[in-house]
Amino acid sequence: MRVLVVGGGGREHALVWKIAQSKEVSKVFCAPGNAGIEELAECVPIQPTDLDGLLRFADKQKIDLTVVGPEAPLVAGIVDLFESQGLAIFGPSKKAAEIEGSKAFAKYLMDRYDIPTADCVVFEDADEALHYVKTEPLPLVVKADGLAAGKGAIVCHTREEAVEAVQRIMVDRVFGDAGNKVVVEEFLVGEEASVLAITDGENVVTLPPSQDHKAIYDGDKGPNTGGMGAYSPAPVVDEEMAERVRREVLEPAVRGMALEGRPYRGCLYAGLMITEAGPKVIEFNCRFGDPETQAVLPVIEQDIVPLLYGAAKGKLGEGPQDLQAAKWATCVVMASGGYPGSYEKGKEIRGLDRDFGENVIIFHAGTKRVDGKIVTAGGRVLGVTGLGNTITEAIERAYWAVGKIVFDGAYYRRDIGQKAVRRLQAQERRNRR
Ligand code: AMP
Ligand code: GLY
Repeated sequence: MRVLVVGGGGREHALVWKIAQSKEVSKVFCAPGNAGIEELAECVPIQPTDLDGLLRFADKQKIDLTVVGPEAPLVAGIVDLFESQGLAIFGPSKKAAEIEGSKAFAKYLMDRYDIPTADCVVFEDADEALHYVKTEPLPLVVKADGLAAGKGAIVCHTREEAVEAVQRIMVDRVFGDAGNKVVVEEFLVGEEASVLAITDGENVVTLPPSQDHKAIYDGDKGPNTGGMGAYSPAPVVDEEMAERVRREVLEPAVRGMALEGRPYRGCLYAGLMITEAGPKVIEFNCRFGDPETQAVLPVIEQDIVPLLYGAAKGKLGEGPQDLQAAKWATCVVMASGGYPGSYEKGKEIRGLDRDFGENVIIFHAGTKRVDGKIVTAGGRVLGVTGLGNTITEAIERAYWAVGKIVFDGAYYRRDIGQKAVRRLQAQERRNRR
């Protein structure tokens, strides 16, 4: 098979890395890719939102399967376009991608199909939203309805914060049309986890659970980012919880989407809060997570290409089992100083040519090659994944490799994976008693 991966971040590097290992695959292309992806795939300079350009390329190059990384082309309808031309593509249709593209739609779906989530109210009018956040008990979470690059949800502990959040989204329109509506919801208490599932619109195959680290600073402090690191599997989702996530969240969501006339094919990402009462959905995404994918794919031993192709064709069948983790992985994101605010680009990255051995994988995100050197080209620059037989080993290997890589202003969190370590230690103490 000739496979095209759309996107150019760390998630796409992980997808290309995994897909290139498949014995079904003879050639991988990536649009636009990055300096790391170049080593594994032929990169072509077409932007993920240039749907016509991607279609022309896939057609001319006789691509057998296109796999879409980011949400923007999915929400813009790339799957509908490719399928109208008879091309196989992994991802949800435009109408199905609304599960991420509109939080109000996702909330409607969860309400209608009894999927556990935070209680919420949706507002189209700024004054009504302001009145509401001035009177409801705190904390509250204020969210822009549309896409906001992971930055559209604001947890508000004070009235001032809640009023400012509504103002910024609906009046100042810092996220543009994504702020036509706001969702104001109850604050959930628990530990977060991400469960990714591959579905053909009917059958669901789950991937090992993972945990993202969204805040910029250690201890989950500071503003949210696209994600500063991840590990997999996530012990907070044990076998029993995984079964509940499947039964209470994933299966009803897939069934609900079919009943709504929006059959969902592709990767369904459930962003969850694991509460005392069980799993509750914080958000659905219509794609693989970033940086979760850089931790999840390396722990899976199976070939995922038959699953991606089966899902794209709407024929996963009853056969495939959920994918299990064969080891542990921790991905530490190295970012440009200043991210998620403004930052400089074009800093030379040193140390990448070293042999890190088979237990470290360096996934590139915002990098590019200039005059033979690899330089920074984005906020999140690298995702350094360490593998091990324990979470501690995976963490140590990731941070050992991070210590060998240098660029001006490099910033990374030092506590990726520590929640898992603490949870496992507490479990062990309980077992000994
Ligand atoms: P979202 O953009 O909806 O994924 O939200 C981004 C982040 O805000 C989440 O990963 C959580 O850390 C936090 N968050 C969102 N909604 C809630 C909620 N209802 N309760 C507690 N934290 C939340
Ligand atoms: N890591 C969060 C996301 O992919 O949306």
